[in-house]
Amino acid sequence: MAAEIKNLKDLQNTEYGLKKLFSDAEDFLPLLGTDYVELYVGNAKQAAHFYKTAFGFQSEAYAGLETGLKDRVSYVIKQDKIKLVLTTPLTKDGPINDHINLHGDAAKVIALWVDDAASAFEETTKRGAKPFLEPTREEDGDGYIIKSGIYTYGETVHMFIERKNYNGIFLPGFTKWESHYNPEPVGLKFIDHIVGNVGWDEMNTWCKFYAEVMGFAQIISFADDDIATDYTALMSKVMSNGNGRIKFPINEPAKGKKKSQIEEYLDFYNGPGVQHLALATDDIVATVSQMRDRGVEFLYVPDTYYDDILERVGDIDEDVEVLKKHGILIDRDEEGYLLQLFTNNILDRPTMFIEVIQRKGAQSFGVGNFKALFEAIERQQARRGTL
Ligand code: FE2
Repeated sequence: MAAEIKNLKDLQNTEYGLKKLFSDAEDFLPLLGTDYVELYVGNAKQAAHFYKTAFGFQSEAYAGLETGLKDRVSYVIKQDKIKLVLTTPLTKDGPINDHINLHGDAAKVIALWVDDAASAFEETTKRGAKPFLEPTREEDGDGYIIKSGIYTYGETVHMFIERKNYNGIFLPGFTKWESHYNPEPVGLKFIDHIVGNVGWDEMNTWCKFYAEVMGFAQIISFADDDIATDYTALMSKVMSNGNGRIKFPINEPAKGKKKSQIEEYLDFYNGPGVQHLALATDDIVATVSQMRDRGVEFLYVPDTYYDDILERVGDIDEDVEVLKKHGILIDRDEEGYLLQLFTNNILDRPTMFIEVIQRKGAQSFGVGNFKALFEAIERQQARRGTL
């Protein structure tokens, strides 16, 4: 694909046209949306409490010893369209234990909602995907689902979930989780994108995987000099499915004077994996201030970031002083602008974090902020004589 294609609109304007480009995707793998993200964690009960308290998720469903499981427990938490599943093993050995031991708490499954999970499995494995789970039927009194799974980067998995014949709370085997502790939502609406970090020289391999195996198209690409200061370099490409609901940026480290933040991730995660979930809100000031009040720590944004902000992004609806007070970042592309902010790592290993994003027309991912933010930090370092 041509390098000048920066967004979906550009793609539409190419000689191929969006429909033609995505026609294969629509033929062989229609994805209706993200179904859920499952995290393997050391202590799901406490993790669920954290995500409810700090991020405003609601108790949704539960499966464990009480529902007949012997080897693990899962809590499902929900906020608007976002569903997270937190799973902990109850026995000493097994694949979940191994995963936690190697990667720490981690996003294992990015589940995709499909009409036909058997066909999704067949079409993707036929194109070279490594199988994780053959199409499997699960049922209970509320109907049945079909699920199947394939591996993507590292040990991360895409599960295809076909739920058109199911009316239960989540999936067969889960029961409604009733809790007396129900902190208010903070306004997070849906998953905007999910970013994967892959190893040196692996970005193109995985973009090719999404293109050829999943029928995605590349919508944006950033070279190392786009997202590079002297100290932090990375490269990124964004893959999107046909209807644009699923967007997976893929990062790889790039050479700089110091260790790339992607390389640091790979060291602590012990391989490729999910770096961040970007969760959309339509009122980022309200969302971020509530999250701060509830103890969420965000990436520190130096005041200098705002010094030349309006020159960089032009007119915006929001009061810059309010954005500055909350440390909210702004970036603009050809279609509009976006507001975003990144949490600090939400785990002890410097691996996963959460992004809060509000789009005001922009369809890109805030590349201007990477550089502006890192340079702002470096300006401060320079003043302190620590650069
Ligand atoms: Fe992001």
